[in-house]
Amino acid sequence: MKPKIGLTQDSLKKISDMLSAVLADAAVLYTKTRKFHWNVSGESFMELHKLFEGQYNKLEEAVDAIAERINKLGSKTPGTMKEFIEMASLKESPGKYPSQKEMIKELLTDHEAVIVQLRKNIDDCADKYKDAGTADFLTGLMEEHETIAWTLRRYLD
Ligand SMILES: [Fe+2]
Repeated sequence: MKPKIGLTQDSLKKISDMLSAVLADAAVLYTKTRKFHWNVSGESFMELHKLFEGQYNKLEEAVDAIAERINKLGSKTPGTMKEFIEMASLKESPGKYPSQKEMIKELLTDHEAVIVQLRKNIDDCADKYKDAGTADFLTGLMEEHETIAWTLRRYLD
């Protein structure tokens, strides 16, 4: 059954497509953060191992919330690695094991790219689609990315 919640079918479809891209980036960033959790080594090993764990746990919650929001808006949620890789704008780096500092820099770059994208998505939800619910949802998500980005940035100052 299609949701009758004051949004046109066209808007619902476009919002769901936009959320699917947000989901794909979150899934890529989740996987990358886990990879770094597993492979970080050096002086601050345990600190960064735990820091990355806290961050991928946050991202895992985000992945679930984004996925379920797509469902709430009446669309099927993509859920395969293949689709995530195709839809994501973030890039993976197979076979590469950066230094501690490079890991932090790469994660920061990715979180900042997500924040820039979410800011645009929030504006689109509010202005183009008149979807206050998704705009609010994405604002909360953006703030979580801002907190993670702030934490990562502090290691580089
Ligand atoms: Fe672990």
